Amino acid sequence: MSKGTFYITTPIYYPSDKLHIGHTYCTVATDAMARYKRMQGFDVMFLTGTDEHGQKIEEKAAAKGVTPKQFVDDIIEGKGGILDLWKLMNISNDRFIRTTDAYHELSVQRIFKKLYEQDDIYKGSYKGLYCTPCESFWTESQLKDGKCPDCGREVKYAEEEAYFFRLSKYTQKILDLYEKQPDFLEPVSRVNEMVNNFLKPGLDDLCVSRTTFTWGVPVDFDPGHVVYVWIDALSNYLTALGYLNEEYHDVEKYWPADVHFVGKEIVRFHAIIWPALLMALGMPLPKKVYGHGWLLLDGGKMSKSVGNVVDPVILAGRYGVDALRYFLLREFPFGSDGNFSNELLITRINTDLANDLGNLVSRTVAMALKYFGGTLPTDQIGDSGDDELSTMANNLRSQYAAQMEKYAFQNALTEIFRVTSRANKYIDEMAPWVLAKDDSQMPRLACVMYNLLETIRICAVLLKPFMPETSEKIFSQIGAGGETTTWESAAAFGALPKDVTVKKGDVIFPRIDMAKELEILAEQMK
Ligand code: MSP
Repeated sequence: MSKGTFYITTPIYYPSDKLHIGHTYCTVATDAMARYKRMQGFDVMFLTGTDEHGQKIEEKAAAKGVTPKQFVDDIIEGKGGILDLWKLMNISNDRFIRTTDAYHELSVQRIFKKLYEQDDIYKGSYKGLYCTPCESFWTESQLKDGKCPDCGREVKYAEEEAYFFRLSKYTQKILDLYEKQPDFLEPVSRVNEMVNNFLKPGLDDLCVSRTTFTWGVPVDFDPGHVVYVWIDALSNYLTALGYLNEEYHDVEKYWPADVHFVGKEIVRFHAIIWPALLMALGMPLPKKVYGHGWLLLDGGKMSKSVGNVVDPVILAGRYGVDALRYFLLREFPFGSDGNFSNELLITRINTDLANDLGNLVSRTVAMALKYFGGTLPTDQIGDSGDDELSTMANNLRSQYAAQMEKYAFQNALTEIFRVTSRANKYIDEMAPWVLAKDDSQMPRLACVMYNLLETIRICAVLLKPFMPETSEKIFSQIGAGGETTTWESAAAFGALPKDVTVKKGDVIFPRIDMAKELEILAEQMK
């Protein structure tokens, strides 16, 4: 039975370059959350997609001698493109929206017109310092030494006819929102940033159309204007459900969104502009916006233009998709920035996945095979004399859930690995190889094996959102399947039948030779 709906989104990505591991980070986090909620029995809608309009794409396409649509099609659907990357990373999105989809464009035009007709959008002129070669307006504070921050050339005062959204009207309403719904925006540090940097000084009206490029949704009642970025991009969260279009009919079912995951630099758009637009449209607001941190490389944000990007395809190819997914969510607290390095990745795989989890599974399965031929004897289950491990495993699901509900993926995984470490210690303390030498100790030995298998089972269920394929491999080795792999079954110790049969399998995470790998990676990532 469904526990209700859960609507979660990633930002829609710019298909201007190949995506890097920073983009993968947010999508993997969203995927883990979506899988977690599905496992709990929620009817989940997980949306991701691409944000395809704008001057940058138009220029890149022109430089390549193709149309903008051909350009984005290639980056999205071409070999090694965005869709391939999400497939590789095992992303379980329910829907994929492209802002060039006809139904989305139609909705955007309808939204724009509605806002115009009710006077939330008005025609004015965009005034500022203009860089002619870059076709960009800049404010005084954005200039570098008085010149264009992009190309370094002179700027001059200019005016351009444009439409504006009356964002200034919403300053107090957004402040009230943060007051009334203190968990609307998390982590809390982002709220302070919004209030101090943008709301307290007062919001300016927002330019929402341009006439200097054509690759965008046309304003249907004023040819020459195209809808500028944010109305087009943000509304994807609604149009993908069928808002003001006939493609889908899910607005009532899934809106308001339960959470929008977004990177910290676009929090402003999601926590100020988006709620203001929704207020203007008379729509309920999302329950939460979560602004996650960045993956940094050598202290700086990864970016294709800087040239410091890490390719997730290479890493997933060498260490497996699950190891990469695990690393991303285990290593860095979701709300803060984190410094990526190949050393960190390999260390994490070796310590947690190969030594801790992998060893636990292979030792346990090997001992169950050696001492009982693979099937535990029901008539001989005794007491191991230690209930600390089973108590920990029993409590694990609720501790894990408490962290997952806060989007604290790192802590949720730490909870699981505290239990796997304890289980490894339990093996050393119980010394099954000693028990096995004494016939009278067989009931105790059987109990030790059962406790280990049960502990592994519960851990593997809770790891499913993070490492779906690994959990399946573990289930098959420890003789779990069907009902013993469900969320419900992880609530309490003892779901595996007492006469469970294990099966030898491959090592789930082979140990990596750090020095050798670092050399190979350096070579491949050149
Ligand atoms: N198209 C806009 C989003 C519109 S949402 C209505 C956009 N696209 S983007 O491709 O530039 O970025 C998409 C997401 O990837 C953003 O949330 C951004 O923060 C995230 N990341 C890009 N580089 C990143 C890192 N290095 N680390 C973590 N996340 C990063 O913005």
